[in-house]
Amino acid sequence: MKLRRVEATTRANIALVKYWGKADRGRNIPAVGSLSLTLDGMETRTLVEPADQRTYLLDGKPMQPAEAERIARLADRIGIPAGQGFRFDSVNDFPTAAGLASSASGGAAAVLALVHAAGLEWTRRQWVDETLRVSGSAPRSLLGGFARLDPVVDGVRLRRLESDGIDDLRVLVARTQAGRKAVGSREAMEASLHSPYWPAWVASHPQDLNAAEAALQAGDWAALWQVMEHSTLKMHALPWTGRPAVWYWTPVTLAVLAAVREGQTAGLAGGFTMDAGPHVKLFCRTGAVTTWRARLEAVEGVLDVLEARPGAAPELVVDGQPCSWVLPAE
Ligand code: PMV
Repeated sequence: MKLRRVEATTRANIALVKYWGKADRGRNIPAVGSLSLTLDGMETRTLVEPADQRTYLLDGKPMQPAEAERIARLADRIGIPAGQGFRFDSVNDFPTAAGLASSASGGAAAVLALVHAAGLEWTRRQWVDETLRVSGSAPRSLLGGFARLDPVVDGVRLRRLESDGIDDLRVLVARTQAGRKAVGSREAMEASLHSPYWPAWVASHPQDLNAAEAALQAGDWAALWQVMEHSTLKMHALPWTGRPAVWYWTPVTLAVLAAVREGQTAGLAGGFTMDAGPHVKLFCRTGAVTTWRARLEAVEGVLDVLEARPGAAPELVVDGQPCSWVLPAE
């Protein structure tokens, strides 16, 4: 197979209604749906180019064996022959594996770069299913803006959700700890299956998704922030009460959440979410960004506050030529 040189740029996405837990480990089908926003300013750039040997790089260093193995298995499924060399070079412009959704943008970029390098034309179903196998949150980064991913009878369904006020939204990320997280999301999801709250999580989840989609359609941000915070706290209760127990929170995390509550009580509009990590993400409208940023930065222990705006769909450069790509319609 002759490989092309492809550079794929994708953006991280942050779930407002969280995915947590798997219904089918083999195909990585999520136990619950999710609703997310793709973000600009938190990008993965992945280059695949022909080479004599295989090299897997992440942020300029050789990938950890388990990560390289995931990409090798993906290349296998795509049909790239085992003996075929290529250089796979992925760079995040934000901290990797730190609970900042790098697995989402990284997974989407890996699939986009490898499939285009192999010159394949894929259906929507193939794109979504293969990206899902790399990471449960990754298919959402195949779209710009708001996305909803639902488990359905024979797999998952990915939809873009339109929202009139989207350009006025901002996400502030208060980083509370440096470095990679100690426990990956796969492991923490396994532990969560043993939480007594697991059945309640699955049963109450569709209601949150529908409430969030209705709030989006109505442009009712206050309702959206409310369901986002509720979904986040329910999700985090699962690893806390799992076996073994896993928690991602640090004292600084809790101090940031307290600062968010204080701001809300003082009349500032916005809401928080957290992924499988100790950082806090705050959603708000542009008019409140400066005040929120000052409040978050004032919390002792916060390392920095990143700002992201709603992000676009992926971009590709194939053999040096920028080329447009959109996820094919159903
Ligand atoms: O994509 P994964 O397997 O790293 O799972 C991450 C799940 C959360 O980020 C915590 C929630 C979500 O829906 O993105």
